[in-house]
Amino acid sequence: LDHFHRNQTLKDVNVLITAGPTMEPIDPVRYISNHSSGKMGFALAKAALLCGANVTLVAGPVHLEPPAGCTYHSVKTTKEMHEIVLQLFDQQQIVIKAAAVADYRPAEMATQKIKKNQPDLTIQMVKNPDILLELGKKKTHQILVGFAAETENVASYAADKMKRKRLDLMVANDVSREGAGFQHDTNEVILMKPSGEMKEISLASKEIIAQEIISEIVTILNRKKE
Ligand code: CTP
Ligand code: CA
Repeated sequence: LDHFHRNQTLKDVNVLITAGPTMEPIDPVRYISNHSSGKMGFALAKAALLCGANVTLVAGPVHLEPPAGCTYHSVKTTKEMHEIVLQLFDQQQIVIKAAAVADYRPAEMATQKIKKNQPDLTIQMVKNPDILLELGKKKTHQILVGFAAETENVASYAADKMKRKRLDLMVANDVSREGAGFQHDTNEVILMKPSGEMKEISLASKEIIAQEIISEIVTILNRKKE
């Protein structure tokens, strides 16, 4: 997609993107998180900005510079991400959930550092809210885009998530593949639509993958307007 130049296909369109991991505290010095770097979400924000969109980026703890021109919210926990995303949802036309949200969090955070005075340690975990599932239930006019990080049965697991979360576009990611998923600068994905339509995007930089995803969203948006 070397033809992806600055354009106005998303002018006056509000796009909310989540990126990065979430981080769940165990005690004041420890946490549970995952390997998400935020690169895919940040690349999506840049691609949407290139199309003239009003971009809001909500990111967990990452080591990346927010792209110039977006509204940036930095969060730590799933609870914080949940709160801000729900608050901003109504005013969005497009929501892309690229964040790798922690599925569980410690039932409670110890107020003091846990000491190693017992042979084994068990941490009770409770389930976090599924932000995207809630957005799917709430959506009215929004185009909802989700990711699926899988290590096996990629297409069937991803298709199931797309249905359950009422998505308009699913980006299925085989994170066990060489050069794909967490931490990498490249990715390889399958775009899936509720119609059953599928499009494989072979190994490319996250910038290129992001532009492909945004192009697909623009197509969906234009079809909706017709
Ligand atoms: N997601 C979310 N809130 C969560 C968990 C996931 O919004 N608590 C979103 C992710 O941002 C992603 C999509 O749901 O867009 C799928 O995430 P994934 O981890 O692949 O699937 P889960 O539904 O969490 O199921 P599982 O981890 O068991 O495969
Ligand atoms: Ca998950």
